[in-house]
Amino acid sequence: MKLIVANWKANPATLEEARELAARSDLEGVVVCPPFVFLEEAGKLLSRAALGAQDLFFEGGAHTGQVSPDELKHLGVRFVIVGHSERRSAGETDEIVAKKLAAALAFGMTPILCIGEPRAVRDAGASAADSFVMGQLERALEGAAAGQGALVVAYEPIWAIGSGLPETREGAEEIIGRIKERIPSARVLYGGSVTSANAGDFLGSQVIDGVLVGGASLDAEEFVKIVMQAGGAA
Ligand code: PGA
Repeated sequence: MKLIVANWKANPATLEEARELAARSDLEGVVVCPPFVFLEEAGKLLSRAALGAQDLFFEGGAHTGQVSPDELKHLGVRFVIVGHSERRSAGETDEIVAKKLAAALAFGMTPILCIGEPRAVRDAGASAADSFVMGQLERALEGAAAGQGALVVAYEPIWAIGSGLPETREGAEEIIGRIKERIPSARVLYGGSVTSANAGDFLGSQVIDGVLVGGASLDAEEFVKIVMQAGGAA
């Protein structure tokens, strides 16, 4: 079954809107990732979809403003996005990403590791993009015990995120194929400007295991259309 991850980012503004969006996104094969403040309430409304978080800290204790893996686990969170490019651009290093990935696994949650190259690297050619992405993958896996738990990887070229310019299916398949060669047990998704107009293309691929949806996951009608293209129940 294909996996469809809804990444709400810092949306919506109110609990009421979050409740409505969660209820309408509660579909088979879906992971709903609300902001921390709405996790608990969204979780109560999900029975078919799984609950995911957008980030985690790698330990509990004296860390003002952070959210620990233990806290997430106790809220029923099953998936955690790790190393999203928006966090990396806010200063998150490969070393921190690796610690977060290991922490998620240690607490029995499935990491959704985000990797992807910036525009300048892509412009330097396909092999530059390939080594950039595979390097990020290797560094993120440092510290994670082999076979410790399930892993999801989301290939999200940075230039495709929120730009309205998705990668082509063929381009995504090439890098995703390489990621799957490296970690055969991982499910590997595509992310970056996925909408109901192009989701069917990515979801129809034998190589791509699902999609990570940002902007289009905030419009319930649009999101349901995406999920239906994965064969999910609506
Ligand atoms: P987008 O975001 O679908 O709005 O491009 C994807 C993401 O950032 O995960």
